Amino acid sequence: QTADSLFIINAFAQKFYAQKLLETEEGQTNGLSYLKERGFNKDIIQKFGLGYAPDGRDALTKEAIAAQYNSELLQKTGLVVERNGQLQDNYRDRIIFPIHNNSGKVIGFGARLIKKNDKAPKYINTPENELYVKSKLLYGTYFARQAIDKADECFLVEGYTDVLSLHQAGIENVVASGGTSLTQDQLRLIKKYTSNLTIIYDGDAAGVKAALRGLDMALEESLNVKLVLIPDGEDPDSYVRKVGEKRFREFVQENKKDFILFQLDVLLKDAGNDGAKKADVVNQVAETLSKIDKTEDFTKQQDYIRQCADTLKIDEAGFTALVNKFIR
Ligand code: CTP
Ligand code: MN
Ligand code: MN
Ligand code: MN
Ligand code: MN
Repeated sequence: QTADSLFIINAFAQKFYAQKLLETEEGQTNGLSYLKERGFNKDIIQKFGLGYAPDGRDALTKEAIAAQYNSELLQKTGLVVERNGQLQDNYRDRIIFPIHNNSGKVIGFGARLIKKNDKAPKYINTPENELYVKSKLLYGTYFARQAIDKADECFLVEGYTDVLSLHQAGIENVVASGGTSLTQDQLRLIKKYTSNLTIIYDGDAAGVKAALRGLDMALEESLNVKLVLIPDGEDPDSYVRKVGEKRFREFVQENKKDFILFQLDVLLKDAGNDGAKKADVVNQVAETLSKIDKTEDFTKQQDYIRQCADTLKIDEAGFTALVNKFIR
C-alpha cells in the first residue's frame, strides 16, 4: 500500500526533474550543459531518465502538494523535507539520477552537486524506506540484465557516472555498488544473472580495500571473482572516455586478476618479513579458501590450495588441513 504510493510519487518526481532538465532554460543552462561538458549524450541522459532539481526552495514541493500527494509520504521518499515547519525541496541545483528496480520502476534517487561546494555532500541519496534499501540494490541492473546474460559476466563499478559512461561506450553489462562495500544480498542479486563477477574499481587504496571486503562473501555465493584496477587518478567513467571502448575492453582483459591470488599478493606485501604477520596471512587465506563451495566446485578449491601453498612456500597437505579446519 505505502509502497504503491511511493512508486507513484517517485514516478511523478522523475518526470518533473527530467522535464526541468530538458525543457526549461534553468535546467538546460545549469544541468544539461554540465552533463554535455562531461560528455554525456542525449540518448544516455534519456535512457537513464536523468533530471535537474531546480535551485528554488520548493519547486517540486509546490507541484506535489498541488497534485495532492500526501505530505508524510512525500517526506518518506526523501524528495521533500520539513524545515522550520515548512515543507521544502531536499534536492536543489543538483543532477538527479533515478534508481530503478528490476521492472524499471523508480525506487529512489541519487542527487549530484553541480557547482563545487565543500560544505555540501557530493551526492545525496534517498533515505531508507519501503522501496529503497541500499544494501539490497545495485544501480543499473534494469539496464544491464540482458547484457549480463549475454556476456555471462557482470562488471561491477563504484558509481552512477561509471555505469552511464560505459553504457554510452557500448559496454552494458555493468552495475554499480554506490561506493560502499558489497553485501550478501547484492552478491545474490548478481548470482541470479551470472556466476562471473568482474570488479572494476579505482586503483586507490580505498578501492582495493572496498573490493577485498567482499571477497569471502562472494565465494560463499559461488561467484568467480576477478578484479581490475583502473590506473591511478582515473575511474571507469574517465578512463573509458579517454581510451574508448576497444582499448577499455582490452585493458580489462589484460589486467583481470584472479581475486583470491590478488588478495594473497596484497596480504603478503603488507606482511613483509614479519613472521607473525606471515602466519596471519596463511590463516586468512585458508579461511578465504574454506569459503569456496566444495559441493559446487571441488577441483577449484584444490587448485587454489595448490597455488596458494606454492606462493606461501608452505606444505600443501598441511595447508589443506588448515583450510578444512575452517569448514563447518
Ligand atoms: N557516493 C555517495 N555519496 C557520496 C559520495 C559517493 O553515495 N557523498 C556514491 C555514489 O553512488 C557515487 C559512488 O559512491 O556514484 C562513487 O563515488 P565517487 O567516485 O566519489 O563519485 P563518481 O561516481 O565518480 O561521481 P563523479 O564522477 O560525478 O564525481
Ligand atoms: Mn575512489
Ligand atoms: Mn549459497
Ligand atoms: Mn567519477
Ligand atoms: Mn569515481
